[in-house]
Amino acid sequence: MLKGKKIILGITGSIAAYKAAFLTRLLIRQGAEVKIVITPCGKEFITPVTLATLSKNTVLCDFFSHDDGAWNSHIDLGIWADVMLIAPASANTIAKMANGIADNLLLTTYLSAKCPVVVAPAMDLDMFRHPATAKNLVTLQSFGNFIIEPTSGELASGLDGKGRMEEPEEITSWLIEFFKKKSRFSGKKILITAGPTFEKIDPVRFIGNHSSGKMGYALAKTFADQGAYVNLVSGPVSIGLPNPAVKIHPVVSADDMNQAASTLFPDMDIAIFAAAVADYKPSSQSESKIKRSGNDLLLNLIPNEDIAAKLGRLRSENQILVGFALESDDAVNNASRKLADKNLDLIVLNRINDPGAGFNVDTNRILIIGKDNIHKNFELKSKDNVAKDIVDEIFNLMINGSYA
Ligand code: CTP
Repeated sequence: MLKGKKIILGITGSIAAYKAAFLTRLLIRQGAEVKIVITPCGKEFITPVTLATLSKNTVLCDFFSHDDGAWNSHIDLGIWADVMLIAPASANTIAKMANGIADNLLLTTYLSAKCPVVVAPAMDLDMFRHPATAKNLVTLQSFGNFIIEPTSGELASGLDGKGRMEEPEEITSWLIEFFKKKSRFSGKKILITAGPTFEKIDPVRFIGNHSSGKMGYALAKTFADQGAYVNLVSGPVSIGLPNPAVKIHPVVSADDMNQAASTLFPDMDIAIFAAAVADYKPSSQSESKIKRSGNDLLLNLIPNEDIAAKLGRLRSENQILVGFALESDDAVNNASRKLADKNLDLIVLNRINDPGAGFNVDTNRILIIGKDNIHKNFELKSKDNVAKDIVDEIFNLMINGSYA
């Protein structure tokens, strides 16, 4: 299943380094070619002889050989690999990766790697839940790196909690799935609208909403991870670039979003409307700051263009269009009506009163409705995992031609 895949396995100083021996054997059994880079501290936990025997390759640790001065090129390694897997990844190495520190061969290889990087952390529970580690892992994700979450259980310290490196079998399955999905959308062009829009009242005030953009950004990352060319038309949010391969088109108002999305749309294979577009804007904007007068202030609001509905009218049969509906009352009927009115293929429903779903939270619970009244319910999950479910459903629709 990993036949011909070239894998750099990075091993750092953690008790879980012993599992790297099993992991190497599994990867080789699956047909992968494995080159191991180990940190000096990693060698304290497992010997290069074991790893070299299992991987059938010399294990690299130093920048050059002390015997003959031969240079171990981290650049060549980074170009050679299809994936760099760092397992176990200690808190120290994760911190250095997040900050661009390059004081060993594993780190210089990481910094020059052109391939996807997968990180399987292993550490004590308190180190794992320290805000510094959490922040470093978020930083790695913002670089487009993948994290294989550690599991909970008994740790080397004797404590019980989250921090155990995922088992070698699971890491191997993760990689198999990763390669299977990596090119699912290659060559496909995808438009995603995300975040809120701000409708200007005067130079300092606007009408906005609480959308964080997290769902749209998670979708953009997932599609890009699976080979798509993603255009993300984003309202004002405070999230970093989800994946270096995503092209961001920053906009502020619904009019700007409409213009950017409409320009891109004809060339797109798939369009996803995840933005919380303001339905109304002030009929006029004051060029100078509106001063307090003591009297009532009336704002006249006029409707914005419904971007999804407009592009739904312009769409071709070959395009796939997906919308979102955030509803409080009569949720399923309202969402189904939007699916039909906006001429979409799928609509993703969030219910406002559902705990853990909606604006400004990291989780979401969705129901996807397709044509012919097909409903699929999903459990409460992180927005990253919800994005994976949505992308899987869009993939099924794309290859089957209908939603079932
Ligand atoms: N949408 C859009 N442009 C708008 C309004 C909505 O593209 N001006 C898209 C949203 O991105 C979403 C879908 O349409 O994919 C439904 O948005 P929602 O705000 O729930 O629906 P509305 O049609 O605006 O209905 P209402 O606010 O009355 O519930």
